[in-house]
Amino acid sequence: MDAIKVRGGNLLRGEVVISGAKNSALKLMVATLLTDEKLTLKRMPDLADTRFLSGLLTHLGATVERDAASMGLHTERLASAEAPYDLVRKMRASFNVLGPLLARNGEARVSLPGGCAIGARPVDLHLKALEALGATIELADGYVEAKAKKGLIGAQIVFPFVSVGATEHAMLAAVLAKGDTVLENAAREPEIQDIADCLNAMGARVSGAGSSTITIQGVDRLHGAEHAVVPDRIETGTYALAVATAGGDVLLRDAVWKHNTALWDRMSAAGATLSQEIEGVRVKASGERLTATDMETRPYPGFPTDEQAQFMAAMCVADGRSVIRETIFENRFMHAPELMRMGAKIDLRGNEAIVTGVSELRGAPVMATDLRASVSLVIAGLVAAGETTIGRVYHLDRGFENLEAKLAGCGADIERVKE
Ligand code: UD1
Repeated sequence: MDAIKVRGGNLLRGEVVISGAKNSALKLMVATLLTDEKLTLKRMPDLADTRFLSGLLTHLGATVERDAASMGLHTERLASAEAPYDLVRKMRASFNVLGPLLARNGEARVSLPGGCAIGARPVDLHLKALEALGATIELADGYVEAKAKKGLIGAQIVFPFVSVGATEHAMLAAVLAKGDTVLENAAREPEIQDIADCLNAMGARVSGAGSSTITIQGVDRLHGAEHAVVPDRIETGTYALAVATAGGDVLLRDAVWKHNTALWDRMSAAGATLSQEIEGVRVKASGERLTATDMETRPYPGFPTDEQAQFMAAMCVADGRSVIRETIFENRFMHAPELMRMGAKIDLRGNEAIVTGVSELRGAPVMATDLRASVSLVIAGLVAAGETTIGRVYHLDRGFENLEAKLAGCGADIERVKE
């Protein structure tokens, strides 16, 4: 099994090119199921998750071609409307094939999902949205069996709380419904806007994405299109926090400033310098200790839960005490005990982590527990004295493209090893 070895202490200098957003790319790939013409996705990250989803889409009848930075997907005919357990359990985003399969085929059978172990993560809102669109849903043997023999029908859907996945899923299903759909209390993440842009390029009529009310006028069919995936704001935030923690001066090429304003606010308060440039975002930090800063995760445009672990790593070596509150997922502090193995002082109290910064972390063997947690251990390793070995990096490979090469290119002492 692969592990990553980091020897801490180097400043980071140079440039990191930000990849396309994993969370957007996965839903954009699923959009192939909505048309019999070819969809070409540019700035497509090459990740374990995108490869895994290619497998599922191929099973459903798509032809998937990959070259350096783009992916072509073509589902001329559906080969199956069933997504089996083995192809869904490893990755929650696979569940999003349900709506498009239903819209195209009138019925579908999709296994209930798995994914990161960061909380209960039910799919009740996804199913309620599809039911509102006229589907009948039954749960049997770990599968969702959905039917809409006469097609989906536009509806008003009011989400009781904000869900990224359910908003995207409803959008992906409603584009081919008869009549208008209005999504209220929709998630506002940039990925949602990205998916709406791609669907519109395919002939859909989606407006309001990026606000909490999204309107979708159903159309009879969608056609092929070419679309560039939005740059990954979570990857951007991760490298920004790595530079702020280790010190240095790095241009995050292609990063979109406005997609991370909540993070920039907290990082500036902690003492890092951030600037918007034509090519992206520049991060500078002296390498002196940051100032401890409190933070609370919130749906976009609030502080992203996917950057919480990385922020915690930064706070572990900051000067003072910071309170980090996680409000999105109930089990998202699994990185804390691993950071403590490196000498961090963290007191966990329910959904709050109280972090007392220490002047030095010490390298140690640690274990990745989920996708974003694993990269927080890399950040800690970049400032720790001595060597940190991070095991189970398959979590990391799900969502970070060329992580070691990107960091090594900026001067980090990091390598992948076989254990
Ligand atoms: C997506 C992202 C994930 C990110 C999260 C929040 C992808 C592939 N993943 O996950 O990286 O951390 O948004 O920004 O895009 N919930 C329910 N019922 C549902 C759906 C969700 O109770 O039907 C709950 C979840 O358990 C969670 C909260 O709602 O507590 C928010 O989850 P949601 O926004 O749906 O996250 P995901 O789409 O799963």
